Amino acid sequence: MDSQTIRILLDGEAVSITDLAPTTSLLAWLRGARGLVGTKEGCNEGDCGACTVVVGELADDPADAPRLYAVNACIRFLATLDGKAVFTVEHLRSLAGGALHPVQQAMVDCHGSQCGFCTPGFTMSLWALYEDRHAQGEAAADPARIRSALAGNLCRCTGYRPIVEAGERMFDAPSRLLDRDRLRTALLALRRDDTLDFGHEGGRFVAPRSVDELLALRSRHPAATLLAGGTDIGLWVNKGLRRLDTLIHTGEVAALRAIVPHAGGLRIGAAASLTAAFAALVRLHPELAELRERFASPPVRNAGTLGGNVANGSPIGDSMPALIALGARVVLASVRGRRSLALEDFYLDYMKKDLAADEIVEAIELPPPAPARRLRSWKLAKRFDSDISAVCAGFALELRAGRIHAPRIAFGGMAATPRRATATEAALAGRPWDEAALAAAQCALEHDFAPLDDLRASAGYRRRAAAGLLARFFLETRPDAPLAAAQTRAFAAEDLAGGGR
Ligand SMILES: Cc1cc2nc3c(=O)[nH]c(=O)nc-3n(C[C@H](O)[C@H](O)[C@H](O)COP(=O)(O)OP(=O)(O)OC[C@H]3O[C@@H](n4cnc5c(N)ncnc54)[C@H](O)[C@@H]3O)c2cc1C
Ligand code: FES
Ligand code: FES
Repeated sequence: MDSQTIRILLDGEAVSITDLAPTTSLLAWLRGARGLVGTKEGCNEGDCGACTVVVGELADDPADAPRLYAVNACIRFLATLDGKAVFTVEHLRSLAGGALHPVQQAMVDCHGSQCGFCTPGFTMSLWALYEDRHAQGEAAADPARIRSALAGNLCRCTGYRPIVEAGERMFDAPSRLLDRDRLRTALLALRRDDTLDFGHEGGRFVAPRSVDELLALRSRHPAATLLAGGTDIGLWVNKGLRRLDTLIHTGEVAALRAIVPHAGGLRIGAAASLTAAFAALVRLHPELAELRERFASPPVRNAGTLGGNVANGSPIGDSMPALIALGARVVLASVRGRRSLALEDFYLDYMKKDLAADEIVEAIELPPPAPARRLRSWKLAKRFDSDISAVCAGFALELRAGRIHAPRIAFGGMAATPRRATATEAALAGRPWDEAALAAAQCALEHDFAPLDDLRASAGYRRRAAAGLLARFFLETRPDAPLAAAQTRAFAAEDLAGGGR
């Protein structure tokens, strides 16, 4: 297959693209080059969901049914979709023989649309859910699951209740499903074994297929941008108007997407999607389920990677406090060899990491779960869904005979980097886990951080919030009468009432 031609299955039709700036977004191409204007541009930064489309790709074992998942077309570079299928809202009627698809009909029947601007995006998120539920053999979804699937879609006029009702109603009509066998055959025909490597007006996009090839490229082009899911980088281009000349895409390196058991714990390849990485993390540590739910939205989690979150190294990146609390290590690789660091040591200063110009983040490794460990990670933001943290905390300690061992506490949003609260940990180590230990730890926390005032939160709020989260951790994990999550969780009453967020 021509290594300079991008091939995509667009709404069932194979399309070849050769003349393209490497940072062209899927959204710009759909609307500009293909006239598919059902996919809307709202925010152009992954927040509103108006541009939601569904991507289809071969499973890791191509004999299995292909995967389908929603993404934001506005922050997805088209070139990363080489060999994949893209389904737009225009395609849905063809699945229903020209009539409205059950998802669309339910949106009409439940009055799920007013001005209609958000409607294609909601419809595609619902369609991804519809296909997923059917693939799981469960032709239904409860309101909580529907709300979760729609966490990345905003509507300014209808209100969400009718849309959630449409999400329930769409399963009532006779099912209209995508033929995944046909999709698989079409994707196999697009599959390439060589490296996509194309240039355009001084720009270059390369998608190596092995770790060795990736490391060799990184070594030859240390100034190039490593591109994983693009959910940070897409904003550099769309909002920061940055010109990126050479992009090296990590997403086609199968070994980098792998998530495997490792020394009793877990090794998560840097290019594993946030969806896949959180699924594995939550299987091992069910306490992280709420953090997963609050990390971005399904389309962002489907595209973004855990390696990208860790490598980007934002002080308000949400995975790091929990990973540091768990004792995660980051594996760095280059043509010179490999090294591994405690994750907290990877962050040197604001957006500065212990990463040489020729190195990549290869994996994140987690130690085995400790049976006596108590673990929590919570994020505080102004909105429940898809918002940026003011403070994010990761707490872990082992309780042996009521005493605290190996406390590991890390915060995001409290310093220039995600950081451990070492004075707080020292105040806790070896003590019984009681009110006195909590008070000593809260006092020590004052010395651990000098947080910033910014538009998200004042320094005073951050301090009080961090101390409050520590108290919540105590209430849920103290040996004497620990509280259940529902007793400390502000959203619990709404959940019980089945209300919105
Ligand atoms: C709407 C929206 C909501 C978001 N919500 C959240 C949120 O709730 N919490 C949160 O923490 N983040 C959030 N983000 C940020 C983003 O989704 C995450 O940081 C994500 O994990 C980035 O992964 P990526 O694969 O998209 O990285 P990319 O954008 O591809 O890359 C990010 C950075 O990491 C570098 N990089 C990527 N892979 C490697 C590697 N293997 N080795 C070395 N460097 C590498 C890139 O060069 C770049 O500097 C949000 C983003 C959007 C658009
Ligand atoms: S246009 Fe808003 S998420 Fe893409
Ligand atoms: S119907 Fe107008 S924004 Fe949702």
